Amino acid sequence: MSVTNFPAGSSSASTGLPITKVTVPALAEMKRQGKPISALTAYDYSSARLADEAGIDLLLVGDSLAMVVLGHENTLAITVDEMLHHTRAVRRAVRRALVVADMPFGSYHGPVGAGLANAVRFVKEAGAEAVKVEGSRVEVVRALTEAEIPVIGHLGLTPQSLHRMGGYRVQARTADTARQLFDDAHALADAGAGAIVLEGVPREVAEQITASLTIPTIGIGAGPGCDGQILVYHDLLNLTFLPPAKFVRRYADVGSLIRSAIEHYREDVEHRMFPSDEESYHLPAQEKASALKKA
Ligand code: KIV
Repeated sequence: MSVTNFPAGSSSASTGLPITKVTVPALAEMKRQGKPISALTAYDYSSARLADEAGIDLLLVGDSLAMVVLGHENTLAITVDEMLHHTRAVRRAVRRALVVADMPFGSYHGPVGAGLANAVRFVKEAGAEAVKVEGSRVEVVRALTEAEIPVIGHLGLTPQSLHRMGGYRVQARTADTARQLFDDAHALADAGAGAIVLEGVPREVAEQITASLTIPTIGIGAGPGCDGQILVYHDLLNLTFLPPAKFVRRYADVGSLIRSAIEHYREDVEHRMFPSDEESYHLPAQEKASALKKA
């Protein structure tokens, strides 16, 4: 296996321009300047490095990795230790994007001090630059912010609330629930959240919340009016095995590409077409005669 490390210096592989690290305050500045924020999930070194080199602003080590990488039915089973393992791999790959780690289900739902201790692990042990928490966890957001850990909120369709919601359903579809979402977003912002992911909500609601906040919103299934957009890496590239949600746009069919490349490899092996002589090592000519002589 050949491994290419980052070249010396600090310019982008694709543009050659100097790299300016994306930070949480930089996201707010992007909102002020009306510059859309691009965000994507990433779960390992190669996905994160490719996304970073492609210029994505924010990389989320989402707990969706429980489903798309580890094959769980939902996100609930993943542990802090598993999330740390993947966050470290992403951190090693990234030079420019903001690296955000998702706090898994159960890691911030009890006493605030326990949530804080888990969040500290993401910063100290995995190099996360912010953590994300789902739901209206105002006290958690406040405590983490006071402990100098930037927090991204996540409202609307929050997958960790699967059982309470009774399935993955679009949220805030009535005037009352839309108002509640608006209030929750403002409460998180007041508690210090650096940005808020809005998932699975009507675009009109997301637009109104976005317009009323000074911190950015990052939408997924929340229409075009958010300050940024996020997609799951495997959805964008068609590396999943389920029909896509309405809001997913497939930018490439990498799943088909991989399957056909692997089929081609298998056929070559079965027909003794791989490896070729050029792909083989050779004994130096002067060694051949004596090395292969019977003792
Ligand atoms: O876990 C995840 O991938 C997420 C995004 C969908 C926002 O939370």
